[in-house]
Amino acid sequence: MEIIDGKKLSQALKAEIKTKVDAIKARGEKIPHLAAILVGHDGASETYVGHKEKACAQVGFKSTLLRFEDDISEADLIKEIHALNDNPDIDGFIVQLPLPKHFDEQKIIEAIAPEKDVDGFHPVNVGRMSLGMPAYISATPFGIMEMLKRYEIETSGKHVVVLGRSNIVGRPISLLLGQKSNPGNATVTMCHSRTKNLEAFTRQADIVIVALGIAEFLKADMIKEGAVVIDVGITRIKSDKTKSGWKLLGDVAYDEVAPKCSYITPVPGGVGPMTIVALLNNTLDAAQKKVYK
Ligand code: GUN
Repeated sequence: MEIIDGKKLSQALKAEIKTKVDAIKARGEKIPHLAAILVGHDGASETYVGHKEKACAQVGFKSTLLRFEDDISEADLIKEIHALNDNPDIDGFIVQLPLPKHFDEQKIIEAIAPEKDVDGFHPVNVGRMSLGMPAYISATPFGIMEMLKRYEIETSGKHVVVLGRSNIVGRPISLLLGQKSNPGNATVTMCHSRTKNLEAFTRQADIVIVALGIAEFLKADMIKEGAVVIDVGITRIKSDKTKSGWKLLGDVAYDEVAPKCSYITPVPGGVGPMTIVALLNNTLDAAQKKVYK
């Protein structure tokens, strides 16, 4: 059994991005610049945005944080988005989600110019991705694809079973792994809350990707010997054994599942750290006009 070390891999990928940014600087070209919009004071969002700013600094990007109070109107927020769309110094930007309740999130996402949508949430990017065209791939599917690639895990001809059909994980990763690409060329089954006899699918899977948001859902008797298990879940539970008072659980009952696997991602330290690399990678692509020429 080999643990897929997302923390180590994300550091290596950030170092690769930094090398590219150093070369851009040496050539005197424009430094990639990511902006983030944060509305309100949600604690988790503050933390995520802080991580993104730190990651930008690590690789040598410029970053700008635009903060607004949670009573900003939808029309005013859309004006701010249009200003970023039109600002040539900003290569890409994100609107940190979730937004306060009075916002229509889909409308906000659709206000972002697709060529600056480095989260890969705009329907144009999702559509381009699903057609196999150049697109910004969203954070989690990108992270999973990169892990499979870097650990040289064969996906061609394999049966991948994806648990979950969310717009940000289940659906895109199912599409990507079914495409004629490497990683890809897999036979993909997408299971969800209405799937009957789910174990019958997971037991014959070569690769199981679990993105349900249900702590320790996947048990050892649900997989075959030698399976690859990718755990996307993060559930925070109270714990008196940690300094913070919290403990993170994945969607996989790790201690019993891991001994049966050929490869497994831990939680924390698996898929999570990879997601920020997606944002950096998409921003570099945006600055270099790699996706939209
Ligand atoms: N909130 C949690 N994850 C994300 C993400 O990847 N992008 C944005 N914009 N908001 C998030």
